[in-house]
Parts: sequence; C-alpha cells; structure tokens
Amino acid sequence: VLRTTDLTTPALVVDADVLEANLAAMARRWPSATLRPHVKAHKTTALAHRQAAHGHPGFTCATIREVEGMAVAGLGTDLLLANEVLDTRRLGALVEDGARVTVAVDSPETVAAAADGGVREVLVDVNVGLPRCGIAPAEAGALADAARARGLSVRGVMGYEGHLQALPDLAERTRLTESAMALLLAAHADVGGEIVSGGGTGTSAVNTWVTEMQAGSYALMDSAYTAAGVGYGQALHVLGTVVSVSPPRGEMPGYAVADVGLKALGMDHGNPTIPGRGQVWFCSDEHVTFGPDGPVRVGERVLVVPAHIDPTVALHERMHLVRGDEVLETWPVDLRGW
Ligand SMILES: Cc1ncc(COP(=O)(O)O)c(C=O)c1O
Repeated sequence: VLRTTDLTTPALVVDADVLEANLAAMARRWPSATLRPHVKAHKTTALAHRQAAHGHPGFTCATIREVEGMAVAGLGTDLLLANEVLDTRRLGALVEDGARVTVAVDSPETVAAAADGGVREVLVDVNVGLPRCGIAPAEAGALADAARARGLSVRGVMGYEGHLQALPDLAERTRLTESAMALLLAAHADVGGEIVSGGGTGTSAVNTWVTEMQAGSYALMDSAYTAAGVGYGQALHVLGTVVSVSPPRGEMPGYAVADVGLKALGMDHGNPTIPGRGQVWFCSDEHVTFGPDGPVRVGERVLVVPAHIDPTVALHERMHLVRGDEVLETWPVDLRGW
C-alpha cells in the first residue's frame, strides 16, 4: 500500500470522499446535461470520468489541448470550447474523428476560423460584464446570422459572469447575476438555439437563468471560494514537508518553513492557508513560511490549501487520490499545456 508519507513533496493530494461529496452535491443541484463541468479547474481526464459517472454527458474546456485530451479519453460526446480560438484545424480533426465539438465565437474572425477549420457547431459568446471575451449583447444576433451564412449550426449563447463569482455578499451576487443573465437572455432572443450556457461555482447556487451550468472549481475547491461561502468541501491540498523550524529569538516570533512555494501554487488570489497548523506569513519560490499554532518538527507533513485551484493544478504533473494517509490512485494531470 502506498502512503502519503511515501510521496515526494510538494504533491497534490485529493481527498476521495470530499471529492465524491462535491460531485454528488453539484449533480443534485444540476443533474445530467444541466451541468457541463468545466475541466479547466482540474485538467485531469480521470477526474472528468468521475464527473461523467455522475450523469453529465458534456464538458466545458478552456483550451484546444483540453478538448483534444477529453476526446482521446473517450469523453467527446459533447465538448464545448468556451473560449475564442483561431487554430481550429485541430478541432476540425477531432470532429472528423467523431467527437462533438462546439466552439465559442465573438467576432467575424472566429466565425471564419470555425467554418474554415471544420468545426460545425458554435455558441455565440456574449459579454455579460467581465472585460474578457464575448460580443456586445446587441450585436449577437447579427453574428449568429453570419455564422449560419457560413454553414455553421448555432446552438445558442454563452456568457460567463466571472466578475461575480466570488462576491462575498450572496444577495449582491444574486442581484448582479440576474442583471448579467438578463443581457444574456436578450442576446439569446436574437440568436436562437437551445443553449444558454454560463455560470461557475460561485454562482451555481443562484444562477437560475442558464440552461446549462459551467462550474468547475467545485470538484476540488480553493480558499478563495471557501471564503466566499459557496459550500463545497476542500478536496485538494498541496502536501508539503516542514524543512526548517526556527524557535522565537528576541523580538522575532517562532516560525516554520514547508516546501510548498510559489512554484507549486497559483498565487493570484493571495497566500495559501494551512488550516489548523498556523498562519502563513509569505511564500517564496520553494518555501512557505508560517507561524505555527503549536509545536512543529522538521520532517512533519502539512496540508496547504491554495487560494486559486486552477493555476495551482496546472503546475503539477499528477494528483494523488487519497483516503486518510492511503494513496488509492495516482492520476496524471493530462490536460496541461496548449
Ligand atoms: C468561461 C468559463 N466558464 C466557467 C468557468 C468555471 O468557473 P469555476 O471554476 O469558478 O467554477 C470559468 C472559470 O474561469 C470560465 O472561464
């Protein structure tokens, strides 16, 4: 039996039972095709297979590489690339091989690329307030007409309210999500098609306007979403080893250092946490320095919670599914890269 104590650190460890509870809870709220789980958060086809086992036939991807990997893994029933891309020949090749691939478009250029690359189905991506991709709502209908004129099938619209996901005030998150989705529904009236796709973990409990929810982080979770109170369990930790301990000296309080640094953590949402063990002071390339809550010794293992799951996972080659200190399975993070 492989134990977590045998693992080289830093290492991603996923609590099997918390993961399963998260997948089940989201599937209860958004059953079957009403959830299109986003794989960008975990980039792992083995985990996507677990989500498929909860009854979700389709998936959301952020990169062409993710779409390719999902198709190769036998999960190509209905893949949405919820992102603008121009290198569409790679997607057309997957369609030719029997995968169903739908791509987001928000410009004449991305429509032309989809048609030229052999993709047959698109969603019109609508800007609902996040300054990123998406066409202005009033222009969505004309873009849909242009796509149909190029022989593409327009399945509907998508609009991602990413700027609202982690608003701590639930009432405000709900109110602003309603306004964002009003923009999306207005565009949908002009575009047509069956699908209104959007949402994420932070709005999954309040967005009642989409026909399919694109949540991804809920499976593994991070401290930023926990702080926003979205109600899923922390399934993923970065397992680290305490490599140095310094007792209090004069004015300087005692501290400890573990081997989970910037190069093992996505840091754009702030410092990680080490619940129950201490307060994080700061991270450097290969280190996290923390003020311990109690005695710590060199060689001890610590469980570090990243503040942002997606960029954390993308830094690691594998994740270990664990129960207690037993390693049940090791999964390659096989959707990394572009
Ligand atoms: C287009 C799109 N949809 C859905 C999501 C899923 O969000 P989350 O991981 O917060 O559930 C993201 C994440 O950034 C996204 O970019």
